[in-house]
Formats: sequence, structure tokens, C-alpha cells
Amino acid sequence: MTPDLLTDIADTFGTPTYVYDLDRVKEQYNTFKSAFPWPRLKICYAMKANYNRDILATLNELGSGIDAVSPGDLAMARSCGISISNIIYTANNITDTEMHEIAATGVLMNIGSLSRLKRYAEAYPGTRVCLRINPDVVDGAHDKIKTGGDLTKFGILLEDVEQIKEIVREAGLKVVGLHEHTGSGLKKPDSIIKAMKQVMSVATRENFPDLEFLDFGGGFKVPYGPDEAPIDIREIGSRVTRLFSEFCRDYGRELGLWFEPGKYLTAQAGTLLVRVNTVKQNRHRTICGTDSGFPQLIRPMFYDAYHAIENISNPAGMPGTYDICGNICETGDLFAKDRDMPEVRENDLLGIKDAGAYCYAMGGTYNLRPMPAEVVVEKGGFRLSRKRLTPEDLVALITGESATPARNDFNTQTRPDAA
Ligand code: LLP
Repeated sequence: MTPDLLTDIADTFGTPTYVYDLDRVKEQYNTFKSAFPWPRLKICYAMKANYNRDILATLNELGSGIDAVSPGDLAMARSCGISISNIIYTANNITDTEMHEIAATGVLMNIGSLSRLKRYAEAYPGTRVCLRINPDVVDGAHDKIKTGGDLTKFGILLEDVEQIKEIVREAGLKVVGLHEHTGSGLKKPDSIIKAMKQVMSVATRENFPDLEFLDFGGGFKVPYGPDEAPIDIREIGSRVTRLFSEFCRDYGRELGLWFEPGKYLTAQAGTLLVRVNTVKQNRHRTICGTDSGFPQLIRPMFYDAYHAIENISNPAGMPGTYDICGNICETGDLFAKDRDMPEVRENDLLGIKDAGAYCYAMGGTYNLRPMPAEVVVEKGGFRLSRKRLTPEDLVALITGESATPARNDFNTQTRPDAA
């Protein structure tokens, strides 16, 4: 997305605005797909990364399935016309009510604890199910997003296989899939292979005779920082496919090879456009205030994540060092600290890059600031995908009543003759 295009979008729709390049999403999907030359490859996009409807529709058109994790995810996927047979449901710590609600839709459930498996087996004997195994491999870009190992709440431990088998046998369940997800932003490509081998060690015909697929989750890293290299997805793909092919030969059947990428498909396709409204010199620091904040893009504050920031208005400005902040009443409300970039001036337009995954989706309305608008770019053109709510819209959503425009009160308070 060129600076001119982004400027045009900001001029048309204002800021803050998320912009997603749908062509980049398609490119990422096709690159991923072609890296795994397996006839029964299935990609289930982890929609938790970004549930934007244009992104979901684009991936659906390309043939992607969906990894959904909540009734909201499921409802959103269904509203985009994604069929139930194309969705896997991988929620954790669900209630019985949620289990029944989901089972009623017919979506395949991926169960990650013995306790839930028992309750599912009692309620739905004889049905098809997928089981989430904890691969005991620990990797991920940050401690908060490592999912393997016994310190996390995810999946059934490998040593509990005999207990799984007993529950499955008693209820006549058909275990059609085994699943694992090691973590997000896996630092070592070997972790993918290790985790696969762990699942394969229990995925024998004797333990699970009804397998139709193995699902190895997501976690494929994208480069965020200037020193991070992109992963070699083709190399990973060929190692994975070779290993899987050997496994299928031993198992005696060609199974489906499933993945659930989130970041890999959407992270690099997104930019958050924000405008600088205040530049403050605090002794030796230059602090730039923008019209967005951490509830609208929380990764830097939450995971100390790095997002490149482009000064779209002043790309050739003198280099300087800046703290790029938001408009929220918290000290940690920063998008970047000590960031070297071309001179930042009031009214400059900044683009926070690689904001297509876990940015809007993790957003909230803290301080009652509505989330940014969303715009999609496709084949050189752009269009509004989701409009920005006004503060009154937001209050109406919260209270269920239409809100009085705040503007009147504000005018009264600032009139010199106001009481
Ligand atoms: N499958 C399962 C079961 C998952 O839990 C996840 C992510 C994925 C697939 C997709 O992982 P990905 O390919 O996107 O790495 N909010 C964090 C990432 C949390 C990931 C949660 N689970 C972040 O912003 O880095």
C-alpha cells in the first residue's frame, strides 16, 4: 500500500483507521498453500487473528476453512456464508451450555481436556470429535503466547492417552482428528516438526482407528522487527510434507493435513493509520501523541511487541528519536518507545505496520473511545469495510438506549457565561 493511497484513505475516512490489503491476504494464503504440496491439505484460518468480514469472505472464496473459538466467532463466520463443514471449533474452558449450543450446529468440536471429553461423551455418544493434544513443545514469540507444555491450560497431555481411549471406547466416539497448537510466532521451525512427531507418536491405528486428519495449528512467524527475517515457508512445507507422508504410510491411509494459520495470513496485510496531534518536548524525550491508543492496538503494551511505524507525511524528514503514544489515560499507552524515525510533526499521518493480526481483534473501548474504522484495499482501489462508531453509537450499544449527543453539554460548559 503506497503512501499516496494511505493518505487518500485517511483524507476520505479520517483517523484512526485500520486498512487491510486483501491482495496481500490472498498472496499469503496462496504462498502458504503452495508450500505444502499435500492433496488433502486444509487451511483453517484462525479467525481470532482478525474477524473482519471482508477478510473472512476473501479467504472463504479461496477455499479456506475456519478455526473458531467462541459462539461469536461461529456466528460471524456463519454470517459470512462459511459452511459448518468448513469450521473447526477450538474453544477452551467452555460451559455445558456452550457445548450444547455448538453441538446443535453440527460443527466439529476440538476438545482439549479430559473433563470436557467426559461430559461431551456422556451427552453425545457415537459422534465425531477432534481432540487437542498438548505437544509438550514450548515455543512462541512471548511467554503469554506459548501454548505447549504443562504450564499452560491447553490440550490433553500425551501421557493421558489411555484415559482418552477409555472414555472414547465407552461412548463409542469417533475420534476423526487429533490437533495441537504449540504457540504463536514460533521462533524455531524445528518446533513444528517436534510437535508433529509428538502427536504422531500417539496417533496410531491401534489408539485412534478412525482418524481422518491431523491438525497442527498455527504459529507461523512473520517478521515484525527490522532484524527479523521471514521464515522459509517452502522449506518448512517440504519437511512437514515428507514427515506427514511417512506417517500416513505407517498409519495405512492418506489423512488430511490441517493447519490453522492466523498471523501468517493477515498480519502483514494491515496498517493502522493514526494522526499526530501533540508533540511535547519533555527534557530529553520527544513525546508524540496520536489519536489512537492501546485499546485499539494493544500488542506493544501487552507483549512488548515491535510494530514498525512509518511517517507517511514526512518520509524524508530529519532522523529523530520519539515515543509514539496514544490518547488513553495510562502511562503505558505507547505504540513505540525511543523509536528512530523521520521527524514527526503535529498533524503528520503515521502508519503502524503489520497490524492485520491480533490488533483490531484484541481491541476494546476503554475510556469509551470507539474502535477505528476499517477500510479494505483490493486491486488498487479502496472501500469502507466497517464504519467508525460515534461516541453516541457506542453509548447506545452499551445502554441499549439512544444517547444524547455530548456536544451540547460540552458547548454549555465552555461558554464563558456558563454556570
Ligand atoms: N490455532 C489455535 C488453536 C490457536 O490458539 C491459535 C492462536 C492459532 C491457531 C493461530 O496462531 P497464529 O498462526 O496466529 O500464530 N494475540 C497474540 C497471539 C495469540 C495467539 C492465540 N492462538 C499476539 O498478538 O501475538
